[in-house]
Amino acid sequence: MEKDVYILGIESSCDETACSVVKNGREIISNVIASQADFHEQYGGVVPELASRMHVDAVYPTIKQALADANLELGQIDAVAVTYGPGLVGALLVGLSAAKGLCAASGVPLVGVNHLMGHICANYLCFEELEPPFLCLCVSGGNTQIVHVKDYSDLEILGRTRDDAAGEAIDKIARVIGLGYPGGPKMDKAGQGGDVTRYAFAKTHMGDTLDFSFSGIKTSALNTINISRQKGEEIDVKDFCASYQHHLAEILVKNTIKAVKQTGVKKVALAGGVSANSFLREAFDKAAKNHKLELYYPKLGLCTDNGAMIASAGYYEYIRGVRHGLDLNAAPSLKLGVNNANT
Ligand code: KG4
Repeated sequence: MEKDVYILGIESSCDETACSVVKNGREIISNVIASQADFHEQYGGVVPELASRMHVDAVYPTIKQALADANLELGQIDAVAVTYGPGLVGALLVGLSAAKGLCAASGVPLVGVNHLMGHICANYLCFEELEPPFLCLCVSGGNTQIVHVKDYSDLEILGRTRDDAAGEAIDKIARVIGLGYPGGPKMDKAGQGGDVTRYAFAKTHMGDTLDFSFSGIKTSALNTINISRQKGEEIDVKDFCASYQHHLAEILVKNTIKAVKQTGVKKVALAGGVSANSFLREAFDKAAKNHKLELYYPKLGLCTDNGAMIASAGYYEYIRGVRHGLDLNAAPSLKLGVNNANT
């Protein structure tokens, strides 16, 4: 029988300090998340400098707790996996430095992980049977792309946003209509039961590509709000949120189905913070039925940033021999691509 592999995953790319122990890339043994979201709410978004300082406070207790919950000592861990990009540079450096400190002190190997790869791997933690190849729609605050996951570390980007990410298009409009931060979950809640046909938004045409564009849609939403306000009226928040999220979901589904038809791959996963969105999940549930797709999306707690997804991604890098030196630096603009954890 093969020896079990335990990976400690550390995540600090934005406003969550998170650490987790995962067994064999699939089984969560412990999962600790210290979120700063409530703190940043007063500023209407993440303040990078403050986020870094809060990671400094939280990183050691979070790691200590994750090891204690797993009932493991650092010496029993096979590798420390850490997010080294993309993300806020100061925030990334805190998790990365902590990981390097652990590795330097214990001799445990270091494995740098692409945060976006982590989001894809959140699906492996929820679905034992899920294996590549599959298509993955990665939708977060900073990214929107359709990825062909050909193998655990072999990815091809089929389409991407040419401007804003879907999460950004949601967060910005949520702020303008006064829902506050974090906008995604608040808009999701505000739109429940609303009329999805009441408001119309710009349509985008990206030719034959699988690319997205959300900035024109965001502008058309802003125009609708401003025109209403100029007339001394307020938009109906429930119907507006429902219509807007439904519109975004339709676009995300449409391109993903186009990718299914182009590749012939009928296994589809969702990943990233926006994959928690109930309008998106509902639209994909419907599309999966219509197009006979195998559909996967992570459970809610694993859609947003967490250490378990980093540990899972780290496992697949570790077993194919990836090791990083203690000179690994943060890569705030790191892209998803073939074998890019080595870059
Ligand atoms: O993946 P993530 O946690 O962080 C990165 O951007 O990497 O994604 C954060 C994004 C934010 O835009 C947030 O508003 C959005 O995910 N989000 C949601 C929901 N939960 C989080 N968007 C729509 N509906 C949700 N339920």
